[in-house]
Amino acid sequence: MTLEIAPSGQACGAAVTGVDLARPLSDDMVAEIRAAWLEHHVLSFPDQKLTDDDLERFTLYFGPFGEDPFIAPIPGREHIIAVQRDAGETAPLFAENWHTDWSFQEHPPAGTCLYGITIPPEGGDTLFADQHAALDAMPDDLRARLDGKMAIHSAKNAYAPEGMYGEKDAGRSMDIRPSEDAKATQLHPIIRDHPETGRAGIYGTVGYIAGIADMAEQDALPLLMDLYAWQTQDRFVYRHKWQPEMLLMWDNRSVLHKATGGYEGHDRLLHRTTIGAYRQAG
Ligand code: SIN
Repeated sequence: MTLEIAPSGQACGAAVTGVDLARPLSDDMVAEIRAAWLEHHVLSFPDQKLTDDDLERFTLYFGPFGEDPFIAPIPGREHIIAVQRDAGETAPLFAENWHTDWSFQEHPPAGTCLYGITIPPEGGDTLFADQHAALDAMPDDLRARLDGKMAIHSAKNAYAPEGMYGEKDAGRSMDIRPSEDAKATQLHPIIRDHPETGRAGIYGTVGYIAGIADMAEQDALPLLMDLYAWQTQDRFVYRHKWQPEMLLMWDNRSVLHKATGGYEGHDRLLHRTTIGAYRQAG
């Protein structure tokens, strides 16, 4: 089988055909997919009939499983969560704010795999913002304000008991488990090199970024808002449209992402794994 890679024509993203992910992959095939993933940051694989075993096997070709806190795994699986919304659900949309997965961890996941099971007939696109392109085009004055700065990441705004998915969050079909642990903080550089490609990019955004080290809140917040306005512009965005039986994998070190709505009255269900942090061999 020959892998065919069709770039989206947008800021990033490519569709991959010519591979059956329900079968074990050769080392060469995995290397080809990895290279395409690093180049395009988001890969979609349409028309893949995958079981949860297949999803786990695919994930493990690219690293260990990541650690997924605050959301209970689906029954019988340790490393798969359901990204789910029922037709009549009225709770705010899950993951509707720009973010990169679990950036509040010491070693955040390199990537995320998301498999479409029940896909609404319209809406529910996932948006991705290319953070290499956003940095490449960044004006010098904004870059000078950010260079060398360390962001304070935390899950508190989302998963603390007082957070968006905390104790007041009602009527949600996803099994979210808020915790005081969400208040922990972790520093990461705002501008950093990608650990595998070495390409410089912006890492994270306001939300999981709750402040900037050694900077007063009244100075940090305007800077984070200027960064947000820059890094999420339409010109850096790929809008992913889902189909049932489509697998998506993205590189959390290169892109921000967010969910969108527009499918009221329809169920939506996807199974998600994370690919743990990349560690250099040897
Ligand atoms: C996610 O952030 O994992 C969910 C994205 C989506 O529901 O489109």
